[in-house]
Formats: sequence, structure tokens, C-alpha cells
Amino acid sequence: MIGISESQPDDLASIERIYPAAFPDEDLLPLVRALLTQRSTVLSLVARAENAVVGHILFTPCTLIGQSARIALLGPLAVALGHQHQGIGGALVREGFTQLEESGVSGVCVLGDPQYYRRFGFAPTETIAPPYPLPPEWKEAWQALAFSNNALPLSGTLSVPTPWQEPALWGP
Ligand SMILES: CC(C)(COP(=O)(O)OP(=O)(O)OC[C@H]1O[C@@H](n2cnc3c(N)ncnc32)[C@H](O)[C@@H]1OP(=O)(O)O)[C@@H](O)C(=O)NCCC(=O)NCCS
Repeated sequence: MIGISESQPDDLASIERIYPAAFPDEDLLPLVRALLTQRSTVLSLVARAENAVVGHILFTPCTLIGQSARIALLGPLAVALGHQHQGIGGALVREGFTQLEESGVSGVCVLGDPQYYRRFGFAPTETIAPPYPLPPEWKEAWQALAFSNNALPLSGTLSVPTPWQEPALWGP
């Protein structure tokens, strides 16, 4: 039985074990730690199975430069090895969407594998520009979705808080 809830400060050690195993070639821990120090603004959800943390997702509140609409940036997302392909990643994404929409967020952006993210309604976007130019081969990986047609068109350049202002996060 999987339960999704907001992460607690005590979950940090478990979260810190999941990322290096799920992303052996990428060190996302500095980003995760920096975002979690802004716990009051980010949405940080964990999936628990029998009281162990087996998945984690972060959503960072952002805006489009010069606009008031709130847009969330999804990432990172990781599920513990041995618990992948059981619907946990999907459950984390969908619970995040529910909470964000209820709190008045207009849409979500993500830089990730379109094959995975399209199932949630994400589609490559050219109307929302990422905060740093992406390499051409990552064009399809920059995706967005709006929670309601009223929020369309979401268009502008995404303004991200300090932990995301790291060009290395936006390139290979
Ligand atoms: C990607 C990840 C978060 C998905 O979580 P999960 O709990 O395993 O995924 P779910 O069970 O909700 O969904 C499984 C589906 O995702 C697909 N999937 C899993 N990882 C994928 C990936 N990296 N790329 C594309 N599709 C992927 C599976 O093929 C499966 O598809 P199907 O339902 O059509 O068979 C998890 O596998 C993970 O942490 N992987 C390592 C880190 C990573 O690659 N993160 C990418 C996020 S940008």
C-alpha cells in the first residue's frame, strides 16, 4: 500500500539515498537540498511503502517574467530502485497536480523524457521559454501543461528561483 504525503525534515536521509541510485550519472542532491531549504514554498511529496520512503517529487513555484500567473516547475522526481514501474512516479505526479491546481497554480513545466511525461498531458512547448537556452536535441524535452483551458495560452519566459539558476541543470 503506497501513501503520498508532504515530506518531513526527517525524510531527508531517505530522500538522499533515492537520488544517487535512481540517477547514477547525475548529482541532483545539491539541487534537492537547496530546494528543500525553501520548504515553505516548494511542494515536496514522498511516497511511503510500509513506512519507508520509496519515491520523491519536487515542484517549485515560478512565474513567467512580468506576469502574475503561477507556474510550477516539476523536478526532480525519483523512485527507489526495486519500486519502479509500480505506478509510484505517476501517483506522485498526479497528487502534485491536484494540490497545485487547488492552490491556484495555472500550469506546470518540466524538462524530462517526453515518452514518460506525455502520459500526464505534457506536450513540448515553444510558447514558454526555459530560463536558459536548451541544446536543440532537448527541444522535445521541454514540456508544459495548463490545468485549465482558461489558462491558455501560457506564454513567456520562465523565471526560476536561485536553486534552479544553474546553467548546468539546463544542459547535458
Ligand atoms: C522515471 C521514474 C520516476 C518513473 O517512476 P515509476 O514509478 O517507475 O513509473 P510509473 O510506474 O508511474 O510508470 C511506469 C511507466 O513509466 C515508464 N518509464 C519508466 N521510466 C521511464 C523513463 N526513464 N523514460 C520513459 N518511460 C519510463 C515505464 O515504461 C512505464 O510505462 P508503461 O506504463 O507504459 O509500461 C522512475 O522510474 C525513476 O526514478 N527512474 C530513474 C530516474 C529517472 O529516469 N527519472 C526521470 C524523471 S525526468
